[in-house]
Amino acid sequence: MANLYINENKKLGHINPELYGHFAEHLGRCIYGGIYVGENSSIPNTNGIRKDVVAALKGIKIPVLRWPGGCFADEYHWKDGIGAKESRKKMINTHWGGVVEDNSFGTHEFLELCEQLACKAYINGNMGSGTVSEMSEWVEYITFEGVSPMADLRKANGHEKPWKIDYFGVGNENWGCGGNMRPQYYADEYRRYQTYIRNYKSNEKISKICCGANADDYDWTEKVLKTTFDHAPANIHGFMDGLSLHYYTLPNNWENKGQATKFNKDVWYKTLHKALFMETLINRHSLVMDQYDPDKLIGMIVDEWGCWYDVEPGTNPGFLYQQNTMRDALVAGLTLNIFNKHCDRVKMANIAQMINVLQAVILTEGEKMILTPTYHVFDLYQCHQNAELVDSYIDATFIGMDNENQVPNLQESVSMNKDGSINITINNLSADEAYEVQTIFTQKQIKSATAWILTNEMTAHNTFQNTEKVHIEKFDEIETNGKELKFKILPCSVMKIMII
Ligand code: AHR
Repeated sequence: MANLYINENKKLGHINPELYGHFAEHLGRCIYGGIYVGENSSIPNTNGIRKDVVAALKGIKIPVLRWPGGCFADEYHWKDGIGAKESRKKMINTHWGGVVEDNSFGTHEFLELCEQLACKAYINGNMGSGTVSEMSEWVEYITFEGVSPMADLRKANGHEKPWKIDYFGVGNENWGCGGNMRPQYYADEYRRYQTYIRNYKSNEKISKICCGANADDYDWTEKVLKTTFDHAPANIHGFMDGLSLHYYTLPNNWENKGQATKFNKDVWYKTLHKALFMETLINRHSLVMDQYDPDKLIGMIVDEWGCWYDVEPGTNPGFLYQQNTMRDALVAGLTLNIFNKHCDRVKMANIAQMINVLQAVILTEGEKMILTPTYHVFDLYQCHQNAELVDSYIDATFIGMDNENQVPNLQESVSMNKDGSINITINNLSADEAYEVQTIFTQKQIKSATAWILTNEMTAHNTFQNTEKVHIEKFDEIETNGKELKFKILPCSVMKIMII
């Protein structure tokens, strides 16, 4: 029997809804085909944006969307994507498959998508191959209300009122595809570029995000912060609001990542072990950040995370299309629990990527659409958005096929809503063993407990022929005596329990 202790009287921080954010890049079929099909498509759409996809994404309350990249961002020139569609410039998408990008999805279309989704907008600017004035004009084009060259251009393009930008990223992976910069050089450039990201409305502040590290490159974090804090303004807000972190889970290595649906138990535990490394990364980058920002005013922004496998056989290697199994569900479940538990420092996270690319929540094929196991995890976990993290501890045991890739059998996070209801999300990482769990509260009197589960064998996934193989089910085998809860959590499963 594993004990799950919950001290519902001890709140540890606010869970920003943005921890459940998404990322959509001009890559493969994420934007074109996945989100945008054009006004003349036979696929039902609103101003070219798929209705089925928008409805599904609203179902998981997506809070924020990052766009246009990724590596694409540092080669994107926003002026190519405005105005009459037929005269928009065509370009080569050099990073992703060398295909023609016709720019039919640009600034207006992205902001319309955010409006349809009722989510915040996170735009990633081009520092790698763009200029300061190009970045500054983009912000002016989108957000300035009065008379100015860029505001006038926006109005001439049919949008009288400005939009709001919630987050603006100054470059992407500038240690790599975003210009191969050294940290000190990037940080000096960051200081310059961010100066010209103006807040045209005093009550609509744009949060500025500085490019952070690749996985465990703690030296990048240290050097970027050292340079940006050198003679920085006393009030760091408005200078740097977030520092990003990218980490992908690959079962093997970059040359041979591993397959999405064909794997054994060794690879199952290896993948989960690698996904759990996210916690070490957050802890260690936080230690560096704490030296410069002890009050935690700068958020850690994990704006790319998820599983990265070999592409599905027969698909374009540059399109990064992969299937999604119960293994992805467990990676999502345990990663989101980690983010919840670090909500004092982690202020936003964006899974890579939303549709048809990497660990997608939705896959499409023409007019067909399926929800992946990862989608269902986001569905279960939406209860944590805007809730307060509650202190919890589970006495897990370590399991695995070898000593190197051990993982805890159980992993959880717990939050409380304004109305006092408590949500537990708990994962069973074992591929084949169920466990009895007893939940012990400090004081809480339990009136009711309702549970849902996502479970199946480890390689199970949804296909266009069998769309419901993996889906959420109600879980009734839960006992309570008013003070404690008892249940048996099935192997390979993600569960949510709502307690009133
Ligand atoms: O998400 C795919 C790519 O991974 C992004 O374009 C880049 O930022 C990262 O390396």
